Parts: sequence; C-alpha cells; structure tokens
Amino acid sequence: MLAPAVDLLARLAGGGRALELGIGTGRVALPLARRGVPVHGIDLSRAMVARLRTKPGAETINVTIGDFATTRVDGAFSLVYLVFNTISNLTTQDEQVACFQNVAAHLAPGGCFLIEVGVPELRKLPPGQHVLPFHVSPTKFSFDIYDFAIQAMSSNYVEVVNGRGEYTSIPFRYVWPAELDLMARIAGLRLRDRWEDWTKEPFTAESRRHVSVWEKSVSS
Ligand SMILES: C[S@@+](CC[C@H](N)C(=O)[O-])C[C@H]1O[C@@H](n2cnc3c(N)ncnc32)[C@H](O)[C@@H]1O
Repeated sequence: MLAPAVDLLARLAGGGRALELGIGTGRVALPLARRGVPVHGIDLSRAMVARLRTKPGAETINVTIGDFATTRVDGAFSLVYLVFNTISNLTTQDEQVACFQNVAAHLAPGGCFLIEVGVPELRKLPPGQHVLPFHVSPTKFSFDIYDFAIQAMSSNYVEVVNGRGEYTSIPFRYVWPAELDLMARIAGLRLRDRWEDWTKEPFTAESRRHVSVWEKSVSS
C-alpha cells in the first residue's frame, strides 16, 4: 500500500525538495520522484544504493553515502522523511537526538519531518518475560529480545540450513511517540500531526504504529 504514503509525502513536499533518510533501494523515493518531487537520499549501505541504481528513474535521485544522524547535504528541504521503522536503527538516544537536530538543520522554515515507526510492542510480552517469539516453523525461529534497562531490543533469526542453525541478530532502539516529540522539541520542531497510518486513521491507545509529522517554525 505505497500509494497513500507517496500521496501524503508529495503533499507535504508542496513543490519543494524532499530528503529521505535511509533511502535503501528507493522503494518510496522512486515513486515520489515520479510524482515530480526532487528527492535526495542518505544511506550508509553502498549495496542498497547499488540496487537503487539498477531501477528505472534512479538517475533522477542523488544519494549521499553516510550516517543520516550526522551527514549534511547541500541546500534546504521542505520535507525530510524516515520510514519503515528506520529511526530504530539508531541504537542510542544520543544518535536519535542527533538525527532530529540534523533534520532541523536541513529543513527550510515551515518544512516538515515525517517518521513512520511502530509503537513498542511491550504489551505483547508474557508477564515477567523479555523474549517475544514472532515466527516459529520447522526451519525458522524468529524472536525479539528486549532490554528494558537501556530501551534496547534486537530481532533474532535462526534458520536451519542443511541441518545446522544459522543465527542473525539485528539491534534496534525502541522509542515511544512522546520521546520522539521531546527529541523534536530539542531540535526546535513541533508536532503537527500524528496518525495511525498513511491514510490518516486516528492514532489511539490501540495503534500499533504511527505516522508523525513535526514542523519547523516559519520564523526560524
Ligand atoms: C529498513 S530499510 C528502509 C529502506 C527504505 N527507506 C524503504 O522504506 O524501503 C533501512 C535503510 O536505512 C539504512 N540505514 C540504517 N541505519 C542508517 C544510518 N544510521 N545512516 C544511514 N542509513 C542507514 C539501511 O542501510 C537501509 O538501506
């Protein structure tokens, strides 16, 4: 369901430039660029960007290789966006705060920062537990591990290949909507909208994710 996301991002860009943090293979950036929005991307992974470069329309998109918490790109943007839970790839609070400050430095006055991210799923954990299995099959076992003391989690995957288990672990920092609002405020941004999804369903206590938009004041 990419169309509502691209519609909303195009509206927020409002005729200006957009910057995607963690652009990856261009899943969102390419259709947004096809809508006439000039898109620039930042990504750490040369391999992901190489895949983007194989796709039609990629020649219209400039990408800077670097860490989106600190990498600067020339010019001002009317929209910066960070989707698909990618804020959680920054595994410390300091890095997440730095990301908001970096975004604010890229935004033109009145510009917007949009994040799409899940609400931490702590309520799904069995009482007293910190491990949450989310996929169990004869050849695959996947589970999240939470460390509440440092607001960290990891997604872990065990796959049986030729009778042996192969293990992969990806670290994340889970973050609540209210903490993101505080990070935005530290960076000089204010919450403008928060929805449950791209179609602007209301965000409620039962929402499992949110699409949030913070704004830089027109007078900054
Ligand atoms: C889950 S993928 C999402 C890609 C794309 N935004 C999408 O929605 O399809 C996350 C991307 O963020 C990149 N990434 C993760 N942490 C990063 C960081 N600190 N700085 C730059 N890129 C990062 C990864 O290399 C990957 O391409």
